[in-house]
Amino acid sequence: MSRENAVHSTGVTPGWYGVDPETMDLKADPHERYRGLRESQPVNLTPNNEWRLSRYADIQHLLKHSHSGMRDLDGLIPGETREETDASRFMLRMDPPDHDRIRRLVSKAFTPRALDAIRPSIQPLVDQELDKAVTRGEMDLVSDLALMVPAASMCAMLGVPFEDRDRLSRLVSVATYRLAKRALPDLQEEAEAAIFELAEYMFALIEQRRQQPSDDILGLMVSAEEAGDRLDTEELLQQSIGLLIAGLETTIGLIANGMIAFSRNPEEFRRLGRSPDLIDSAVEECLRFEPSVPMTLRVLWEDMTIDGITIPANATVFGVLIGANRDPAVFSDPDRFDIGRAEARHCSFGGGIHFCLGSHLARMNAAMAFEGMAKRFDSVSVDESAIEWAPSLFRIPGKVPARVVPR
Ligand code: HEM
Repeated sequence: MSRENAVHSTGVTPGWYGVDPETMDLKADPHERYRGLRESQPVNLTPNNEWRLSRYADIQHLLKHSHSGMRDLDGLIPGETREETDASRFMLRMDPPDHDRIRRLVSKAFTPRALDAIRPSIQPLVDQELDKAVTRGEMDLVSDLALMVPAASMCAMLGVPFEDRDRLSRLVSVATYRLAKRALPDLQEEAEAAIFELAEYMFALIEQRRQQPSDDILGLMVSAEEAGDRLDTEELLQQSIGLLIAGLETTIGLIANGMIAFSRNPEEFRRLGRSPDLIDSAVEECLRFEPSVPMTLRVLWEDMTIDGITIPANATVFGVLIGANRDPAVFSDPDRFDIGRAEARHCSFGGGIHFCLGSHLARMNAAMAFEGMAKRFDSVSVDESAIEWAPSLFRIPGKVPARVVPR
């Protein structure tokens, strides 16, 4: 069945239904729009011939139980040529068995234990940067916090000096434009150049680790082995660059969007200051309330029927995570920001075999950032009119100026 025919046979009228990512500003305050989509078209066919699901239960089904993957029935990544698909070996773009083999090997290095081990080297950097903000009384919540914490983690993971963080962060941030080929066509050349420079940088580090094994995460990845199997150089390059791309911007978004939520809900910020043991649920609530990755996707390998609508095999289906996280069928009073909420798991890290491998690191970084802020400050007031958004596929603030009042 061709895709074109398949669309007509569903009987569904394609449309954006109030959420058109190519023409609308969906960064500043998208929730009302996504609520409208979930309520009016929970099973939505877009004019681009792609599907979007926005209810929690449908997304859980898509990610955990459907017969689907990252490549279509011809083995192609949607929108990519055969050559591009074949060259693409980052785990998030692969299907089993290749996906499982690579994920298993990387997971051997990327354990919660290995991540906890880098925390002591990051904490002093975070403390030192935040102490400067105490005397200033103002800060940019992106450069002084949301970028600084994951950048420090990134340097520790790669075993490179903290001084390299600006160069690396800039390269990684430009490289993410590669994920938004259609949305950001003008930035593709720049993105390719950044990926090339990153590859050169990582190649040198990998070669160093081969000469002299080390116990940072990159070193552990180089030596990770299972039944005589190891990652080859190309695989190592793609996983290490992929980890940076998948992890840096998303975490900046979590921390910066989380701090905006705290500024809008000052009582919740004070509550965290009074009750530091709420830190874990506060991080989960920030992940639920303002997800930095609004959606993830799968390609169906067989027809899937929801509400009597049959989505055909080979269709690209987006799980609208940002919509599911505020689904009232699962979360009570979903538009309320409540750091003590103890409810179902949010969808922000996706699900199934591609569930975010960096979730532990992201949580650790966010906890360090929010804890550091709540310990030092009584209030944080974001200048909402001065918020700038990064030109990213994700919801990542580029600048968030704020006044901070020390405790
Ligand atoms: C708040 C921060 C983060 C968010 C919101 C986030 C979100 C996601 C999402 C939605 C997916 C796709 C899951 C799916 O389709 O089922 C994913 C996959 C992935 N993420 Fe994250 N992520 C974050 C941080 C990180 C970090 C810090 C790293 C590592 C440094 C990382 C590494 C990965 C990897 C490797 C995958 C692919 C896993 C696979 O294909 O098996 N992420 N993430």
